[in-house]
Amino acid sequence: MSKSSGPILVTGGAGYIGSHTHHALIERGYEVIVYDNLSTGFREAIHPQARLIQGELSDEARVAELARSVPLAGVIHFAASIRVEESVARPLDYYWNNTSGLMSVLRALRNAGSCAPVVFSSTAAVYGQPERSPASEETPTAPINPYGRSKLFSESILREHTEVSGIPHMILRYFNVAGARRDGRLGQRTANATHLIKLACEVALGKRAELAVFGTDYPTRDGTGVRDYIHVEDLAQAHIVALEHLWNGGSSGTFNCGYGHGSSVLEVIRTFEKILGRALPHRLEGRRAGDPAELIADSRRLRDLLGWKPEVDDLDTICRTALEWERNL
Ligand code: UD1
Repeated sequence: MSKSSGPILVTGGAGYIGSHTHHALIERGYEVIVYDNLSTGFREAIHPQARLIQGELSDEARVAELARSVPLAGVIHFAASIRVEESVARPLDYYWNNTSGLMSVLRALRNAGSCAPVVFSSTAAVYGQPERSPASEETPTAPINPYGRSKLFSESILREHTEVSGIPHMILRYFNVAGARRDGRLGQRTANATHLIKLACEVALGKRAELAVFGTDYPTRDGTGVRDYIHVEDLAQAHIVALEHLWNGGSSGTFNCGYGHGSSVLEVIRTFEKILGRALPHRLEGRRAGDPAELIADSRRLRDLLGWKPEVDDLDTICRTALEWERNL
């Protein structure tokens, strides 16, 4: 499959990872159509050269009409709900937005006769509490919340669809995505975020009094949870190499996206303290339900098979860019 001349459809392109990725695609010379309902995404995050279509994923007819009107070169499907706790309270909404959302897009493409390859946003949450760390793509999947299950079901649907249609796909399992564009043009705007680095920025800027450290008795080097924090620009590049791999005739596959090493909650706090030159107010608390002790990606497949070369891989830059962005928000 070589790249056709048409645009790349980016669903959820107004969101955090979707915006960084579609800007990077445009900077690499590709044409982009963003399809987003702007429920959690932002119009300001759309690149001036991208065409925005405001619409719902469930509107299959609309997506099919779009795919009939332009020959799509590829589809990157980000649009989804991503809050683990919310997924426990509202599972139906998660299966609807995430699993049915993917099905709608695939059905629309099929109905339009499109053969565009699909890159899909999955998550390390499909591993649940992984049996071994780092987790490879062969580590058994055992999600422990509806969010992770909604993504795991989606992965299966995509694989089955590829088997019958021959349309290739790439599944990217993100570990902990953080940071902002190094040139300050984009970052995470998500309201009421629950992510450690976003919350640490809010504390650093006095928008929040202190940070809670969830759990100090994990079997990790300092007792706090360890995660593989990946800079959002390196993750955006992973989508581009994934799509180019399919255009060059590569086969479908599943890939972990992380650096292969982790940082503890206390190490993240120390990094902020170093950047700020002062203490970051925090208090030690008990564990948060459902948190694994350690989540680290074995990402050799992404590097070896796709030639992905991370540019950042540095906790200091991740925290610094996130803080700069938060300051300018
Ligand atoms: C979770 C999901 C991940 C999903 C991500 C974004 C799992 C296993 N992971 O990541 O798939 O993509 O949310 O929705 O379900 N922490 C604190 N204090 C805080 C916040 C966090 O100590 O105020 C700790 C956590 O206990 C954890 C680490 O910081 O050890 C990272 O937490 P967080 O940023 O919330 O992401 P995950 O829960 O790892």
